[in-house]
Amino acid sequence: MTVDAIAGGAYIVAALLFILSLAGLSRHETARAGVIYGIVGMAIALLSTLALTVADAWGGAGSALGLTLMAAGVLVGAAIGLWRAKVVQMTQMPELIAMLHSFVGIAAVLVGWNGYLAHEPIAENLVGIHNAEVFIGIFIGGVTFTGSIVAYLKLSAKISSRPLVLPGKNALNIGALVLFLVLTVWFVMDQQLWLLIAVTLLSFALGWHLVASIGGGDMPVVVSMLNSYSGWAAAAAGFLLNNDLLIVTGALVGSSGAYLSYIMCKAMNRSFISVIAGGFGIVASASSDEDFGEYRELTAESAAAMLESASSVIITPGYGMAVAQAQYPVADLVARLRERGVDVRFGIHPVAGRLPGHMNVLLAEAKVPYDIVLGMDEINDDFASTSVVLVIGANDTVNPAAAEDPGSPIAGMPVLKVWEAENVIVFKRSMAAGYAGVQNPLFFRENAQMLFGDAKERVEDIIHAL
Ligand code: TAP
Repeated sequence: MTVDAIAGGAYIVAALLFILSLAGLSRHETARAGVIYGIVGMAIALLSTLALTVADAWGGAGSALGLTLMAAGVLVGAAIGLWRAKVVQMTQMPELIAMLHSFVGIAAVLVGWNGYLAHEPIAENLVGIHNAEVFIGIFIGGVTFTGSIVAYLKLSAKISSRPLVLPGKNALNIGALVLFLVLTVWFVMDQQLWLLIAVTLLSFALGWHLVASIGGGDMPVVVSMLNSYSGWAAAAAGFLLNNDLLIVTGALVGSSGAYLSYIMCKAMNRSFISVIAGGFGIVASASSDEDFGEYRELTAESAAAMLESASSVIITPGYGMAVAQAQYPVADLVARLRERGVDVRFGIHPVAGRLPGHMNVLLAEAKVPYDIVLGMDEINDDFASTSVVLVIGANDTVNPAAAEDPGSPIAGMPVLKVWEAENVIVFKRSMAAGYAGVQNPLFFRENAQMLFGDAKERVEDIIHAL
């Protein structure tokens, strides 16, 4: 049996393992098995590719230089990857993922260029298809590359998360797509180098514009959308490299990413088409200098007194709890209040924090009993009959403007209706806005009071006062 045949078989096994991995990851109980399937599948895929390359270098068209270069690339890449995975904070995961997507994008662009500059002889009747693959691969890869870079810059707060609103932005996006189609037909008929340069630049500009046009509140959807694009970019590269595994894996990532984006759009009440089309149809709202009135502050001691006399408490955590690593004292506070007979529960917004399930992971880490951690839909009707709500480092996810102000950039996004409770205590360090960059009228409500400072320290102060 040749190495080619063995590698072909191994690729099918790896593809099946990736499918099992996705199936496993979709449920809590099977997630661990899902991760293991994924690791084994990827190990098989890497080893088979390595075996193919070695065989090629010895007997085939490849060279020892190619092999050495590949080994050096794998070693340097793996070392950087290991180091990044070790030092990355849970709160920085979305930006790391965005950066990794940009690598997939640029890889697809390079594979496309390589497919034009140095390809093996192609049967006459397949030349047109090959050229279309080159062109489409470069386009999808280019959009993914710059789109992911903008997402990385926005998520890491290196540029503002406000949406860029160029005049006629929808016409620009549609114009770019039409131009791409025209250039593709042209390139299939006549393979001019300048056409390839043009589509590369066009895709870079479109990727940049698509993601720059999307506001902070919709960024979680953008990350999963770029995940999907990176899958299609990999699949396009698979066609060019004649690699079945890359085609299957790319299609799996592409379609599951698209489906995840769709689910998240539904959870945030956003139009899927509007988000993938770079905020198509979203009208930028005027930035409001609205006067919200005065806010009130309270001390940790009075917060403790309020909690002691409460009959029911709901805690709504957000990104700030993750930053402060306040989940451990929060779990301690919950245990003490429950000992005193107070009914304490958590209300988790589907996009609280910086990645889906972020809050659930933190609370599980701190050993908070799972049965008191409820999702937004399960708890939203209970706020009206609750004595005290503790908003710990959450902001956009508890913003009443989403429900009440149609002009707000987060209008229509479902939120936790904390303002319906008798008392609301908000833990944050300042009056600064949340991720979406909009002010929160909750802080100025009659029944709300601010407890300023680092969430971990303030919760510890309350425990001390109790
Ligand atoms: P945010 O709206 O980002 O608000 C977090 C709040 O925590 C800020 O107002 C901040 O105020 C406060 N904070 C930060 N560090 C703190 C500390 N050490 N101690 C106390 N408070 C601290 O968070 P959220 O309510 O969780 O909403 C999530 C947002 O992120 C949504 O807009 C969502 O769309 C977006 N997002 C979500 C995801 C997913 S998939 N979950 C991914 C990316 C983005 P101060 O600075 O004044 O302290």
